[in-house]
Amino acid sequence: MSKVVLITGASSGMGRATVEFLAKKGFIVYAGTRDIKKFKNTKNTKIIPISLNITKQDSINHVADTIHKEQGKIDILINNAGFGVVSTVEDLNEEQMQQQFNVNVFGVLRVCKSIIPIMRKQNSGVIINISSFLGKIGLPLLTLYNSSKYAVEGITDSLRYELKDFNIRVHSIMPGFFDTKFARDNLVTNLQTFDKESPYAKMVMNLAPVIVEQINNGNDAIEVAEVILNIIEDEKFLARVTVGDKAKKFIPMKKELSDEDFERRVIEYYGL
Ligand SMILES: NC(=O)c1ccc[n+]([C@@H]2O[C@H](COP(=O)([O-])OP(=O)(O)OC[C@H]3O[C@@H](n4cnc5c(N)ncnc54)[C@H](OP(=O)(O)O)[C@@H]3O)[C@@H](O)[C@H]2O)c1
Repeated sequence: MSKVVLITGASSGMGRATVEFLAKKGFIVYAGTRDIKKFKNTKNTKIIPISLNITKQDSINHVADTIHKEQGKIDILINNAGFGVVSTVEDLNEEQMQQQFNVNVFGVLRVCKSIIPIMRKQNSGVIINISSFLGKIGLPLLTLYNSSKYAVEGITDSLRYELKDFNIRVHSIMPGFFDTKFARDNLVTNLQTFDKESPYAKMVMNLAPVIVEQINNGNDAIEVAEVILNIIEDEKFLARVTVGDKAKKFIPMKKELSDEDFERRVIEYYGL
């Protein structure tokens, strides 16, 4: 019997690559997206696009009920949807702060809240949270995004204890920079921070183009899909894993060095 997957943010990037990869491997994949039209040319019958708004509990509950009715189970949940605000802290407005956490953090919690009871009753499940190497490492202008991904790491750590007795595994993937729609469509810049007259103009000019360039020349999303399959198949898989060059460079360094030495390396690397 095919395993049933729900993935959020499925229409592009890592989400899309994972949908297609897992469907080819024989999984039934519910592709949760705000825009199911993006799947109109999909021929693979194992891919089931489903309207999902992770900022609305009703929408998530409806998706959970639909999958449960159609398949009788949900084996794997992949919390992938996310975006990034690029702003100094002093320029952040209330709406940006709320929206970043509403999607990246509360979105993950809402989806977990609705899927966990199904997994708990079936006494099995795998939850994979797509966080970021920036869930362990801070960078200027990304404080809000960083803190949202640090929170995702915390969610993973806590849920692992909470769900272990119900045979539900929880993992996080910390990708480095990946060439997806992220920099093109889903990095939201704060206009004040990006103003030529901003006191942070020099930092913005030095760092922002480098980050965008590193994302657009980043690794291929298929690497994330392959790691997801490894996690699903290997019951002993580690709690968290890095994927992609930047994550593999910085995360081990962060573990080995003192906070201060690590900070010096990042300052040097990004010319901060
Ligand atoms: N690309 C990178 O360098 C990188 C590095 C580390 C971590 N990540 C993380 O990896 C995950 C996937 O990103 P990606 O690189 O594949 O980028 P992507 O191509 O931009 O895909 C992100 C998906 O998240 C959903 N999304 C974006 N903004 C949203 C919003 N405001 N509300 C609800 N859903 C929203 C969208 O799904 P729908 O439109 O289908 O609903 C979108 O397809 C994200 O959590 C991101 O933070 C990315």
